[in-house]
Amino acid sequence: MDKQAIAQMKINVAKAALQYIPQNQIIGVGTGSTVNYFIEELAAIKNNIAGAVASSIETENRLKKLQIPIVALNDVDELAVYIDGADAFNSLRQLVKGGGGALTREKIIANASSKFICIVDANKKADVLGKFPIAVEVIPMARSFVARQLVKLGGQPQYRQDFVTDNGNIILDVFGWHITQPIELENKINQIPGVVCNGIFAMRGADKILIGSTEAVIEF
Ligand code: 5RP
Repeated sequence: MDKQAIAQMKINVAKAALQYIPQNQIIGVGTGSTVNYFIEELAAIKNNIAGAVASSIETENRLKKLQIPIVALNDVDELAVYIDGADAFNSLRQLVKGGGGALTREKIIANASSKFICIVDANKKADVLGKFPIAVEVIPMARSFVARQLVKLGGQPQYRQDFVTDNGNIILDVFGWHITQPIELENKINQIPGVVCNGIFAMRGADKILIGSTEAVIEF
């Protein structure tokens, strides 16, 4: 599929997400190219929202350019809605995220939100998760240890070169998993000392997925 068609799918789904933005509330905003289109759309209704909690420095900068007030998660009890993309989703609305490396803040905000609306293009549908590698954010000094434990779990970890997360950590991208039990694997990875977070969003998946094609948006 050509780049222009994929961009159109992302624009369509970004526009559709606007109808889920409640009036005068603080919203959570994710990270990635689909969310970047959503932030552009947000410009039109920016006076209707009280502010935003950003899942990355990149998103924060984009929101600031629109003069949308940035709010720290520590200053909010619960967010009404979180809008974010994904690298893959399955029929249970479980997700793989972290292609952009913002997974830890994304997972925190998703869990702090009453509603998580995931915006994706139709190419992200997966029968079984694992084809898109699972990002694991790791404390730098634990990199080799964690990599060995991930191999024991059947994965093939690859160090993401020249990348440091907003939290000062590294990312291991794990290939080769055919994930039939996403919740179990999410838990197992979390239990490895040195792991900060992993990109399986199964315990807290999406509440709704908006799937964009070049012509339409489907709610799932
Ligand atoms: C960033 C993410 C993104 O949501 C995910 O990578 C999807 O990105 P895009 O919208 O560019 O396809 O999890 O950490």
